Amino acid sequence: MEIVIGCDNAAVQLKNTIIDLLKAKGIPFEDMGCHSCGDPTYYPLVAKKVCDRIIASNYQKRGILICGTGLGMCMTANKFRGIRAAVCHDIFSTERSILSNDGNVLCLGERVIGPELAKRLVSEWLTLTFKDGPSTPKVDAIKRIEEETMK
Ligand code: RB5
Repeated sequence: MEIVIGCDNAAVQLKNTIIDLLKAKGIPFEDMGCHSCGDPTYYPLVAKKVCDRIIASNYQKRGILICGTGLGMCMTANKFRGIRAAVCHDIFSTERSILSNDGNVLCLGERVIGPELAKRLVSEWLTLTFKDGPSTPKVDAIKRIEEETMK
């Protein structure tokens, strides 16, 4: 699995921590910025870059989006077709975002959690894959709503 990662200027430090983790695990990634705390790029523009890459990969890639809270990145990412983004700051939500919701973007808030918990969550998230089962028709229902609303 390849990862596309991005952050705004509130989360450069946590993004670098997660990039170090990906490198240590040998997981290929693309870094869509931003690269400095002085970069004024608004978080929705970074979320768009990341989601565009995931869509261009035909959803083979997964995303990690980090801002101050994770919320703005998540709200933006969920505007894109086929993206199911979730803010996860605990291990149970992280697990369920994949196993129940077939999520493909993990959103984190640097101002909410510390680096050690973030690394744990990302490590767990990377090991998980959605499997066909009782959650499938529910995710299919999300997809049908998306078809209706994203014309
Ligand atoms: C800072 O711009 C802050 O609003 C942003 O990083 C994020 O938390 C938004 O949801």
